[in-house]
Amino acid sequence: MSPSSTNTLFNTGPASRGTLLRFLLSFAWKYRWGCVRVLCLQLCLLAMGLLGLSLMGTGVDYIRFAAAGQAGGPRAEDKGQRAEGREGLEGREAVALSGGPFGPSSPSGPSGPSSPAPPAALSGGPSGPSRPASPAAAPKPPHWPFGIQPPPGMPPMRVLLLLAGGILGFALLRGALNYFYTVEATRLVQQQIVVDLRAQVYEKMQRLSFRFFDANASASIINRVLGDVQSVRLFVDGVVLPCVVLVLSLVVYLAYMLQIHVGLTLACLGTTPLLWYVSRYFSQRLQPRYRRVRDLADRVVLVLNEYLQGAAVVKGFGLEPNEVAKFAAANRAVRDEQLGIFWAMSWFHPLIGFISQLSLAVLLGYGGWLVIAYEREPDAAAAALAGLSIGQLLVFSGLLQQFSGQIGSIANIANSIQQSLVAAQRVHEVLTAPLEIQSRPLAKHLPQPRGAVMFEGVTFGYDPNEPVLRDITLDVQPGECIAVLGATGAGKSTLMSLIPRFYDPIAGCVRVDGVDVRDLDLGDLRRSIGIVFQESFLFSTTVAANIAFGRPDASRAQIEQAARVAAAHDFILQLPQGYDTILHESGANLSGGQRQRLAIARAILREPAILLLDDPTAAIDAHTESDILLAMEGAMRGRTTFVVAHRLSTLRCANRVLVLDHGRIAELGTHHELMQRDGLYREVVALQISDLAEAGARDK
Ligand SMILES: Nc1ncnc2c1ncn2[C@@H]1O[C@H](COP(=O)(O)OP(=O)(O)OP(=O)(O)O)[C@@H](O)[C@H]1O
Ligand SMILES: [Mg+2]
Repeated sequence: MSPSSTNTLFNTGPASRGTLLRFLLSFAWKYRWGCVRVLCLQLCLLAMGLLGLSLMGTGVDYIRFAAAGQAGGPRAEDKGQRAEGREGLEGREAVALSGGPFGPSSPSGPSGPSSPAPPAALSGGPSGPSRPASPAAAPKPPHWPFGIQPPPGMPPMRVLLLLAGGILGFALLRGALNYFYTVEATRLVQQQIVVDLRAQVYEKMQRLSFRFFDANASASIINRVLGDVQSVRLFVDGVVLPCVVLVLSLVVYLAYMLQIHVGLTLACLGTTPLLWYVSRYFSQRLQPRYRRVRDLADRVVLVLNEYLQGAAVVKGFGLEPNEVAKFAAANRAVRDEQLGIFWAMSWFHPLIGFISQLSLAVLLGYGGWLVIAYEREPDAAAAALAGLSIGQLLVFSGLLQQFSGQIGSIANIANSIQQSLVAAQRVHEVLTAPLEIQSRPLAKHLPQPRGAVMFEGVTFGYDPNEPVLRDITLDVQPGECIAVLGATGAGKSTLMSLIPRFYDPIAGCVRVDGVDVRDLDLGDLRRSIGIVFQESFLFSTTVAANIAFGRPDASRAQIEQAARVAAAHDFILQLPQGYDTILHESGANLSGGQRQRLAIARAILREPAILLLDDPTAAIDAHTESDILLAMEGAMRGRTTFVVAHRLSTLRCANRVLVLDHGRIAELGTHHELMQRDGLYREVVALQISDLAEAGARDK
């Protein structure tokens, strides 16, 4: 895998913001019912909060009313006047009050039309700029929410206790709902979204071709599966849910505030456009920074991953301090970029907070003035039109604070949008990466592959402009063994990789049993091939499970038979738990040769029609090699085999030898035919023979 991290897969270019938002929204849509449940709980929380607040306002007005000795009920005129009072809340109160606890027989304070006029300071108030000033009028009865009021004659202390009990009850209910909300939200986000999305990304990776893995550093892939998936789910719990909650609560708060006082609401919310502008400004500046943080985080994982894989090299060269410095630099780069985001956010939050506080100043000035106007107005109905009761101002201030708090959460939402957009870009790249190699619709099946392989004028290059294989034409009969020889980089492994369709040729075609591999069912094709790679990979499970990787239903006897053929049986028996020994990561507790022999056993156990052995004996001593070759002769019988080999002993076993030179077929024929020619093959063989002769002479 190339260590260089590329940001976009296959250079398809980053997706547009619109595409990413559509991707995120369609992703969120899958979890709509979970979101609806969470939202319902949020709405209940909102309602509980508002009811508690409203009871508090009622309580304050009632205290004023009761303190003035009016709790027994207003005078008959008040009752009549209030019945004619303004629409909305007051309208409901008017209905509630008629026949309520403040009946005509109740003692009343000095209120009514005979009360003195409000003070001059108030002239110009909403009830009439030229009204004569009057001293404070008697407190008016409170506004009972939903018209629910205490029975007539109930002592004030008991009413207050009831109100306090109500407030406490709502608070308790809120606590319980909050608990359910947290449980439900966590279940939705961590147990469903993250798990599903990771599985989706991983599943897609299984289907992606080798090009994907060539083009992306493993660090970047790891970060996409672990980190970016978390940030994508942030779109659900950090953007979609808060946005819906924000809109719903803003609408509810706004409606409630407008119902209390239209003018005060408009005055207090005058700063909202400014909030919107500031949020947009910061949001646009943060996104590129989040992208850089993710790329730099890839670099940290890359350095760590490379060290873990190349620890032996680092220690061998004594370069540990360099590695520490490299890691520290990568770490610092992430920290610096995150600090940049932190500084930007540390301006953003207080600025948003300050703008929200501006509205509180308006509330105190204009709202206070409205309360004074209300208090000075002796007539209850006129007072309701003139201003606000102190309880209403209290409720309004609570609403405004909640409203500002919600507006303030725009900062977090904007931040989350940027984070999730950056992560979405990286996850989207994986999920939409083209599946270059896949079965065509109506692909042909290979129920009983014979193993005939044909290359017809095949040209291939990892980069289409730089061919690695050129015009390869080769016809291999079922059961034939072809040895592939060539200098390093000649294209031997590449040639083999075209048979199982790890890559598709640029020109020409590869046929198996006479059918173009592109027309074959990919599963069938790969099932008919057994591969031993140049560097074999083993999984951290038992030896037996590693051998049975391609055929999990194989019996222990079959596994042991394959191991015998691969000359692995004896060393396996010497392992602490024999076939049940658990291998370390990548088979680190085995030698290179032992790993290779397990890989050969794994390929043989599948009983494939075609065997591809990429230098299987390279890491094996000459003695073991001859054991393997002897045993493999039996295994290769009846199978088409391509074996990359340099040793004479292996080359001699083959029916034909293919010599590759710079991606072209230089020679093709039997050992004897090629020995007749004055070519590369004879050169290689002559060199080995003279080496052997020299060694023999030295031994004598
Ligand atoms: N995944 C890849 N992406 C890009 N280029 C590659 C890739 N794999 C191999 N190459 C290039 O293709 C050429 C052929 O490589 P290949 O691995 O087929 O050589 P080889 O004959 O198997 O060599 P060796 O004997 O060293 O294994 C080389 O120049 C190599 O750099
Ligand atoms: Mg190779």
